[in-house]
Amino acid sequence: MSLTPISGRFPAESRPKVTTATLREQKLRHEPITCLTAYDYATARLVDEAGIDVVLVGDSLAQAMLGYENTLTVTMDEMLHHVKAVRRGVKSALLIADMPYGAYQVDPKTAVANAMRFVKEGGAEAVKVEGGEKRADVIRQIIDAEIPVAGHIGLTPQSVNVMGGYKVQGKSLNGIEQLMRDAVALDRAGVACLYLEGIPREVAAMITNEVSTPTIGIGAGPECDGQVLVFHDIMNLTFGPPAKFVRRYGDAAALIMKSVQEFRADVKSRQYPSDEESYHLPKETKASLETVLARKRAMAR
Ligand code: KIV
Repeated sequence: MSLTPISGRFPAESRPKVTTATLREQKLRHEPITCLTAYDYATARLVDEAGIDVVLVGDSLAQAMLGYENTLTVTMDEMLHHVKAVRRGVKSALLIADMPYGAYQVDPKTAVANAMRFVKEGGAEAVKVEGGEKRADVIRQIIDAEIPVAGHIGLTPQSVNVMGGYKVQGKSLNGIEQLMRDAVALDRAGVACLYLEGIPREVAAMITNEVSTPTIGIGAGPECDGQVLVFHDIMNLTFGPPAKFVRRYGDAAALIMKSVQEFRADVKSRQYPSDEESYHLPKETKASLETVLARKRAMAR
């Protein structure tokens, strides 16, 4: 099988480095911000070379990469392992690492120390923290330590047990007021961008108009300053029905299944490897080997 060369790449040399300042400029000129998750070197390289602005090592890797039930069990060390791999693949995009559950809720000192690990050991350029106004203080302290922070409000998956499931937030007047307070508090705290997850389009539009920080939506409608999706969702690498907002852009599951089944069949039928796919002895060594073997056979007779 011959492989098609991958087209449409933006090699690192051909585009400027995306920084948190770039995101603000994009908001001001109404240029949509693109963000995808990546959890490994190869995906990170492809996503970066495709021209995506922000690569997020989301704690969604708990389910997508590690097969956990939810995001609550993934640890700092597991996250860091993936952040380091992604760092090696990303050249131009802004690299954000997601603070896992337990990494910032205990006390601000631990939160700053954990955020620093992502920067010093993982090479992240910003960290993401879930939660609204109640997180403003810890977010300020991380920013004080020279680490940009991405906020994340609405349907925050680390609060699944408190929310009683993965439910769209901000559907009541009280809910909308709370979301507005959350967004304004994080904007004032100085977040570099604000992820809006699982909230009505109308509410996301109000927040996007209200705050100076760029908003990046997932299940939050088209008025956000940017959009993020989980790479495994857009490539059909998740098992189970997709959420309403997921659009499939490829079917990697089908491609992997077909390729693996073909490999299996080729090995079983001895069609793989072929002679061209095998290494050969140099002519002289082959001739000498044949002489040695012939001598051995003659002596054995
Ligand atoms: O973990 C994640 O992938 C996220 C995005 C969906 C925003 O938090």
